[in-house]
Amino acid sequence: MSRKPIIAGNWKMNLLQSDAKALYEGISSFVSNYSAVQLPSVVIAPVFTCLNQVKEIPCDCGCNGTKLAVAAQNCHWESSGAYTGEISVEMAKDAGCSYIIIGHSERRQYFSETDEMINKKAKAILAGGLIPIICCGESLEQRESGITDSWIASQIRAALDGISSEDVAKSVIAYEPIWAIGTGKSCDATEANRVIKMIRGVVADVAGQSAADSIRILYGGSVKPSTIEEQMAQSDIDGALIGGASLKADSFNEIIEKTMKVAV
Ligand code: 13P
Repeated sequence: MSRKPIIAGNWKMNLLQSDAKALYEGISSFVSNYSAVQLPSVVIAPVFTCLNQVKEIPCDCGCNGTKLAVAAQNCHWESSGAYTGEISVEMAKDAGCSYIIIGHSERRQYFSETDEMINKKAKAILAGGLIPIICCGESLEQRESGITDSWIASQIRAALDGISSEDVAKSVIAYEPIWAIGTGKSCDATEANRVIKMIRGVVADVAGQSAADSIRILYGGSVKPSTIEEQMAQSDIDGALIGGASLKADSFNEIIEKTMKVAV
């Protein structure tokens, strides 16, 4: 089963418009050297106020692919209304996004996002024709108390509840152990692969084997140019969701380049 890898940069709450423009230019000039067939699916997720500084780059080789796609870092599930501070799926699409990250541990932790909210967001994103990047992950305490697998499985079951197999197949999951985010301490690649395989098993259970074979499941947490090759060499890791190392064109481009060598 060959799944096209995804290299996604989550810029989190960083960069002003001029910095975002410069970073976008550094990445876009790199991906322009290749066709979408050679590249992984490259995705960048700037803050909302910088979405006007970046844009999707369609491939020009006739393959109908995309060299660079844009993601929003969050959305609301309602289409419009009195929800101060929120943006809808349609608004993200209007701003050029084709992916939306949901359920990031930082949103679960600091903004009290629940599994139920994440499920509503996933449904709204798919109904709007965009692709959700659904994040999951355990804390250090959960890992040390041996409940990693049951915790992650319950996050995934809740996020995918009531979504058709066809829509699950198009979705993306990112396994991001909380203790590996921003710490410089990446999860061991074989352990990340084991958890991702377990997640794929949960997807097979809720949406069938064909959806499980198609869905792309990424690893996130201190991914760097020095870790990506081992991560991409694993059987079930389909790419990476990258924070810190996506904020510099050099390191992000190096991750893309190494992914092309190992996995595309
Ligand atoms: P770091 O790559 O900075 O650890 O962040 C990972 C992450 O949270 C991406 O969403």
